[in-house]
This record gives sequence, C-alpha cells and structure tokens, in this order.
Amino acid sequence: MQFTIVTLFPEFFDSALGCGLMAKASESGLVSFAFKNPREHTTDRHHTVDDRPYGGGPGMVMMADPLAKTLGSIQASSGKPGRILMMAPKGRPFTQAMARELAQEESVTIICGRYEGFDARLEELFSIEPVSIGDYVLNGGETAALSVIEATSRLVPGYMGHEDSGEEESFSAGLLEYPHYTRPDVYEGLAVPDVLKSGDHKRIAEWRREQALKITLHSRPDILQEAPLSSNDLEILKKEDRNRVGRNLFCALVHYPVVNKEKKSVAVSLTNLDIHDIGRCSCTYGLGGYYISTPIEDQRRMLDELLRHWVTGPGTAANPDRGEALQIIRGVGYIEDAVRDISERTGQKPLLVATSAKGAGNMSVADLRQLLAERPVLLLFGTAHGLAPQVLEECDGILRPVRYLDGYNHLSVRTAAAIIIDRILGDAL
Ligand SMILES: C[S@@+](CC[C@H](N)C(=O)[O-])C[C@H]1O[C@@H](n2cnc3c(N)ncnc32)[C@H](O)[C@@H]1O
Repeated sequence: MQFTIVTLFPEFFDSALGCGLMAKASESGLVSFAFKNPREHTTDRHHTVDDRPYGGGPGMVMMADPLAKTLGSIQASSGKPGRILMMAPKGRPFTQAMARELAQEESVTIICGRYEGFDARLEELFSIEPVSIGDYVLNGGETAALSVIEATSRLVPGYMGHEDSGEEESFSAGLLEYPHYTRPDVYEGLAVPDVLKSGDHKRIAEWRREQALKITLHSRPDILQEAPLSSNDLEILKKEDRNRVGRNLFCALVHYPVVNKEKKSVAVSLTNLDIHDIGRCSCTYGLGGYYISTPIEDQRRMLDELLRHWVTGPGTAANPDRGEALQIIRGVGYIEDAVRDISERTGQKPLLVATSAKGAGNMSVADLRQLLAERPVLLLFGTAHGLAPQVLEECDGILRPVRYLDGYNHLSVRTAAAIIIDRILGDAL
C-alpha cells in the first residue's frame, strides 16, 4: 500500500516510520511512503506557501496554488493518488472502521496542514475528504497523518504477523478490548484472575467477553449501540447497568404556579395521561422519583386514589407493571415540598433545573449530566403554558428547549419529558 504525504515537514516522519513493525513493513514493501513538499511548487525566492487571511484575524493560511500544483503533480506522476485525505479538525472523525476501509486501498494521499489551515477553494478543486483525529487542535497535520497511517497499515494483511490480532482488538467487534495480564502471577499483592490460568479456553473466552462488555458499558456506552449483542450479553449488561442510571435525577410535574394563555400565574388540573406516561418513563430510566405538585386538595385526593388503585388496589392484579411504575410517584403541594423530600431521602439539597419551550436556556444537557454525577437534581416540567416566571427565576438553570431551532415546538409535557429524560440518561450515554 502506497501513502503519499503532502507536508511542509517530511523529516517529521523519519523516526515514527523508521522503527518497529512499521520499519519492517516498509522494508518488505508491504507499505511505502512518498513525500511531496508544496514548497517545491512555489515560484518566489522564499518558497512562500502561506499568506494572510482575507477578512483579517490571527495566523496565516496555506495558499491554494502550491497545494493544487502538488496534487496535480502526484496525479500526473503516479496516475493514481487514491483517496485524498486532508487532515483537519472539521473533518469526519477517524475510526477503526475507516482504517479498515483505507487498508483495502492501493494508495492514499494525505495532506497535512499547518498555520490556520487551507484556502477553502482547494476542496472545490479536488475531491478531498477532510478527516479529524479528535476534537482538539494540533499544530500541524503530520501528527494526525501518522495516526491514520499507523492505524491503517497495521490492518494491511501481513503487517502484524497474526492475522487475527486486529480482529480481537478494541472497536473491531463494536466493543472495547478485555484486560490483559502477563507475568508475574502476583504483582504488588494483585493476582491474575484464576480463570486465565485455568487452560479452559471456553471459560476464558466467556470471561473476556464479559469484561469487554463491562468496560465498554462504563467507558464508551455510545459504541455499544452498534455492537452485535447476544441475549447472554444483554443479561451481563443489564446486571452491570443496574446502578448506573438515573439515581440522582428527580422530576416534578408542576401544576402551580404555571402561566395560562393570558400569561397569568394559575393552578391547573391534573391530566391522567401525564401521571401514567411520565411515571412509566421515570421508572424506565431509573429516576430517583417523580413528584406531582398541586396545592389543590381535591386534585391531591384524586391523585392519591388513582395511585392507590394501581399500586395496591384492584389495578395491581390487572396490570402489575403499571403498579410498579406508578410507585415512583409522590404527590406534593408545592415544589418546595419536593425539594424537602429529596433532601431527606438523599441527604443533599437538590439543584432546581427548569424546562421551557421558549428562549435559549442557560444550561446544556452535558452540564446537567455533570451535576448529576455529584448531587441530586430536580427537573421541573410545567403544565398549561409553562412554568411561571417566578419559578424560572428561582431555578439554578434552564435547559435549552427541545427543537429550539424550529418555529413550531409545542410538545405535550409528557412527550417533552420523555425526550429530555432520554437525552440526559439515554442508552448511549
Ligand atoms: C493549528 S491547526 C489549524 C486549526 C484550524 N484553524 C481550526 O481551528 O480548525 C493546523 C493544522 O493541523 C492539523 N490538525 C490540527 N488538529 C487536527 C485534528 N484534530 N485532526 C486532524 N488534523 C488536525 C490540520 O491539518 C490543520 O490544518
């Protein structure tokens, strides 16, 4: 496989490509490297490749012409530059799957940027794929290119010796890799797990699968979404997951004070669907609790009667699942009562976070998730036309509305609650 690297610093690659398995692979011709320096395609005395950005701002920009001529010369000399990758923070994230794709190619060209990056017209002139190696900014594309070259080359047949080495590794089967151990048997009082010394290959494989599943669940639940899972895998994950989700998140459906059409603060009646649906959602996501707040006595009595019916009354026999879900509900008069109850249950005063269909909010879901790692949070959902302004003012944060970019975002509160709770505690998080 041929890599053609467009770089202002070809010497950067010397040591990285000249040692270990990479050196062997290039000695044997399995991979080969050609370096093209855009300075060779300049016409001025100083071999200038950069210039100031139009519109002002810091730094310099790599000019289109030297790069275009470099790419043109690669096309002319080899006739097949292969896929042209441009290392860039804005690019498609580089993954093991992409490394596998690239390892099938005969040749790949990689452009390394410097300064503030490239004149944007280059991408209009050539079929170029911007590729990023992560959400951070390096000085230049050379370090990024090395990552792409190394991850790709080691998947070229013959590179690693054992052809299955790449199969068992992290990301290959949609999971992170299981832990490894080598001698000594006991190090600093820590022993190697017995199963690995048993010689029982079936048990070892099962143990490794279990470890890989657990490690992936804890470190990268997002990749688990795409992993092929057996029913046994699911059982392992479910057991491991039991304590992970939701415990610090509480929600409250507020019926007073909320605003009506005329923007007046009012109290409104309970809606049976909201009681059931948000209750089932709260139970599904393992929330610490779901409070329904109304100061109106007859509404509270109605709620108590409804809960009694499903949790301990005749509804239990008819539909035990419903009773299990609705157990999570507590009726309270005011938001403060819910706060007091959570403080007693957890020993910590919860932060108050409001939800609203209007405005831009001042707290992201990521911020909220971070708070949840340390303390309880009571998430407030308003009925009628939303939480009253005095409630919003007292909150520690307001979440950005669901579909904040759309003109129409009038969701029922139970739909909004389901979407928001999933964004906070979804399977991939
Ligand atoms: C200082 S960076 C330019 C950053 C650019 N101004 C921006 O904010 O996106 C210089 C060069 O380093 C490379 N680079 C930096 N970070 C990278 C990353 N995360 N992935 C791939 N290439 C990167 C690119 O080739 C880039 O043109």
